[in-house]
Amino acid sequence: MDLGLTGKRALVPGSTKGILRHVVEQLVDEGCDVAICSRSPETVARALRELSGGRGNVFGRACDVLDKDDYESWIGEMAEAMGGVDIFIAGVSAGGGDDSEKNWWKNFEVDVLSTVRGCEAVVPQMQQAGGGAITLVGTTASLETFGTPQAYNALKGSLLVYGKQLSQSVGRDKIRVNSVSPGPIYFEGGVWAMLKDTMARWFEKTLREHPQGRMGTPEEVASCIVFLSSPVASWVSGTNMVVDGGFTKRVQF
Ligand SMILES: NC(=O)c1ccc[n+]([C@@H]2O[C@H](COP(=O)([O-])OP(=O)(O)OC[C@H]3O[C@@H](n4cnc5c(N)ncnc54)[C@H](OP(=O)(O)O)[C@@H]3O)[C@@H](O)[C@H]2O)c1
Repeated sequence: MDLGLTGKRALVPGSTKGILRHVVEQLVDEGCDVAICSRSPETVARALRELSGGRGNVFGRACDVLDKDDYESWIGEMAEAMGGVDIFIAGVSAGGGDDSEKNWWKNFEVDVLSTVRGCEAVVPQMQQAGGGAITLVGTTASLETFGTPQAYNALKGSLLVYGKQLSQSVGRDKIRVNSVSPGPIYFEGGVWAMLKDTMARWFEKTLREHPQGRMGTPEEVASCIVFLSSPVASWVSGTNMVVDGGFTKRVQF
């Protein structure tokens, strides 16, 4: 299937590893130009080298989305380099952790505010381009009780509300807004690889509770994000796609 992504221009912050790195690889394979960042200049330089020579072009520089001014500059620079923005994939996260006030502020600033700032910056770009697609990355930890009460679960959930309501307000501009909520995803260097070592019993319990007896791969989530962000999903907006291999137990009406 041709996803219709050739020549499209995508912003994917926080994308040198994990799910979003695979999103970038798949978008480039489809002929999309893509802008990447992470906080580490070395990691971004390595990713740019590894991703060069594909069907699409890759742009990027180091940027911490916590830094409002620098993040907005990064968006402006990348949009200029690519000649506009058609796709925005927002999934930078401060991750889960202790339920401390410090974590609530960090998750609010990284997960929520950076997403809102990004959307506010790209919507005018997409209006100019005649349409676009925004895909937010949530988590199944917002959909059902998972672990302890914590900022990550609650504030990722707030993005589902934001994404839905944004989809209503920008629909007339032919901009679609969707969310993807992954279940546990395993990759070397990722959070579940770390939990396998530091919280082995929790890791094993999670695996035991999974009907497929394994965790997902970053590629499996990336394919769904790429599909939803592509013109092939032209009639999908305001939805939350759960990508968990059947991990969550609720009925999704
Ligand atoms: N992995 C899972 O099991 C899972 C499950 C459900 C949902 N998710 C969601 O999926 C998304 C991706 O998670 P992931 O586990 O694949 O990857 P990840 O380990 O969260 O890392 C993703 C990328 O984000 C960059 N990054 C982190 N903080 C940043 C910041 N402040 N500014 C700019 N870049 C930053 C990292 O590079 P640097 O560290 O070099 O900056 C890295 O390239 C997140 O929204 C996460 O909540 C993941």
